[in-house]
Amino acid sequence: MITVSEDNVFSLTNKYFSYVFRVSPEGIPEHIHYGGALRDPLNVTAHHLRTQREVASTFQGGKFFSLSDTPQEYPSFGTSDYRFPALHGRNSDGNTVFSLHYKKHKITKEKKPLKDLPSTRGGACETLIVTLVDPLHKLEVELHYTIYEEFGVLVRSAKFRNKSETEIQLQHAFSTALDLPASDYEIMHFHGTWSREFNEERIDVPKGRFVVDSARGTSSAAHAPFVAILEKGSTEDAGRVYATTLVYSGNFAINIEKGEFEDVRVLAGINPFNFHWRLKPGKKFCTPEALHVYSDTGLRGMSRIWHDFIREKISPPNFKNKARPTYLNTWEAAYFDVNEDKVLALADKAKNVGVDMLVLDDGWFEGRKDDTSSLGDWVADTERFPNGIPWLAGKVKAKGLKFGIWFEPEMVNPKSMLFEKHPDWILHVPGREPSLGRNQLTLDLSRKEVTDYLFRKIDAILSCGDIDYVKWDMNRNMTEVGSAGLSRNRQREVSHRYMIGLYRLLRKLTQKYPNVLFENCASGGNRFDLGMLSFMPQTWTSDMCDPVGRLDIVNGASYLFPLDVMAAYVGPSPNHQNGRVSSIQTRFMAGVFCAARGMSLNETDLADNHNELKSLMAFAKESADDMVGGRFDRVIKNQNEVCWQYTTRDSSKVYLAYFHILSAPNLPFRRAHMVGLDPNAIYVLEEDGASYQGDALMQNGMPMPYVATGQVRDDVRYMSKGDFSSYLFVFEKAG
Ligand code: GLA
Repeated sequence: MITVSEDNVFSLTNKYFSYVFRVSPEGIPEHIHYGGALRDPLNVTAHHLRTQREVASTFQGGKFFSLSDTPQEYPSFGTSDYRFPALHGRNSDGNTVFSLHYKKHKITKEKKPLKDLPSTRGGACETLIVTLVDPLHKLEVELHYTIYEEFGVLVRSAKFRNKSETEIQLQHAFSTALDLPASDYEIMHFHGTWSREFNEERIDVPKGRFVVDSARGTSSAAHAPFVAILEKGSTEDAGRVYATTLVYSGNFAINIEKGEFEDVRVLAGINPFNFHWRLKPGKKFCTPEALHVYSDTGLRGMSRIWHDFIREKISPPNFKNKARPTYLNTWEAAYFDVNEDKVLALADKAKNVGVDMLVLDDGWFEGRKDDTSSLGDWVADTERFPNGIPWLAGKVKAKGLKFGIWFEPEMVNPKSMLFEKHPDWILHVPGREPSLGRNQLTLDLSRKEVTDYLFRKIDAILSCGDIDYVKWDMNRNMTEVGSAGLSRNRQREVSHRYMIGLYRLLRKLTQKYPNVLFENCASGGNRFDLGMLSFMPQTWTSDMCDPVGRLDIVNGASYLFPLDVMAAYVGPSPNHQNGRVSSIQTRFMAGVFCAARGMSLNETDLADNHNELKSLMAFAKESADDMVGGRFDRVIKNQNEVCWQYTTRDSSKVYLAYFHILSAPNLPFRRAHMVGLDPNAIYVLEEDGASYQGDALMQNGMPMPYVATGQVRDDVRYMSKGDFSSYLFVFEKAG
């Protein structure tokens, strides 16, 4: 996979891609190729021609060499490249000019985990470590590249080491730099907000700089940490796609720059805005990992690579291909109005409709009757839960259910015992009143005493042994980011140190409780990223449970994430977020292919819809094993229709879900061209035993049900009448 020529051309090649660069005669790592796998990658022609450009400054005396038009592996600023650099900072002389040159390289047959940060797992992989050095300022930068035998993902990170006698300050410490040759490209990225996460946007790569980033302390729903550069006009099936994401959950930036010569630079890593790291002599600094995917089969090919990789190398292995329990969550059923009796009554109802797990959401701890108090204390409310959580968990389990519980560990309300005792444990800056978000403040997780306290509190509950699931929430963005635990001149390190503290806490908890199913949540999808997914097998994708709203969110998130990592539930109707009325069937269907499925309905809703819920939960339970490890494909997506296909991991069953949003008379007859089937196999439709040929389902398509409007006929397959209807086909492969 990794080969090197005598004159230091490096190739990372597997069956999915080749990534090639060389050490230029000037000693600079110069990028040559990223794209389809090459037969002879060490002998490929560089795109870059050494010719004098009238406008360019030349590099350190060379007449025909300028860094401003040279594709590089890790550019810095100040020696003829004017684009945004991967490395920028202040050196020991007080200026910002660094110049990195090749020193040595090493290849290993493994991949080591990063020390403080989550990272992709090794196994059947090779790692190339290229050491660069700025001889003047004695700054060493190791570029780490890992390639896997079985995955189309390239993993990159950088490690800095100050070998001088004086401090170096890092401001840009990007994880990766990728210089793509001039071409017609588009950018695809996802933006959003609370309850409207993962909206897709596609734009031409503009001249200048385009950045998706976060300065909120979480990776955030505003801009997901993901960008794909697409060959213009790429579709689900065709086109070259170069996609990038990060294994990081804090302030990130993905920076796309189209320079004067129209080459496109992608930088991804910690957001340089408001970041500043003091690297003392002898100290190291490690960036988060950045992942790149190349696909020459469009977006579908890209998603398949991401999905397979996330399942195998990011998600906690204990839950790999493990069917997830169906659940009843108390949040939209009762909000803060929870107590022992109510929870036990809901548990009985949950059991009656065939649900596997009862999840006690917010509201269970001392004084928590609304969102104004008590976060941080984590002891059960003595009035409403007089027997405590372990007792309640035991009771629920005795009914034959699993038990789950909600925490929001990173937060504290000013009205709480914790804040009274430790007012300096929050993120804050001297002399300024901290801003509240949902009446709460953010704890300073950069401090070890804070993460130790949180570990003790959570451990005290989990150690009863009856907790099967934890929903880990985080419901505000950070402000006044400062720490009483750090000196004045390290305050710009707080955001990153917070992440290190959070990851330390998560590592400790998930190591101690490897069988507890952790669900990542931040007001829904405000921190849905590979950093959190390294510890938690699933994410509460969004607070939006109206099916129309949810369809777009799941569809958007599916470009990067497999549905194995998503949780969904049937919420109340009218929906509490947007007021839409919809059927239970469609509410369930919007999350039908998510691994974790359940409901959040009150006793009246449960009673009124008992039979329908029972049959949906029976289906969810029966198909729970199918909904992990399989293949998810987007088949149709327009303003009024969505069609998704899900093929089980052994390919024996294929589900096809069709959604029709607004009804109208005389609609067209639609077909869904199914994908990835065995062209020679017969697929039998469960509902009527009809047989279909695999090739015909793909080439000719499966006729979609018709939206009933006027008269209905017996020989036509209809969807339910009216708006927001949905239909599920289930095919068995007959051989
Ligand atoms: C957030 C979550 C919800 C729920 C509430 C509880 O909004 O996204 O699912 O847990 O917090 O306060």
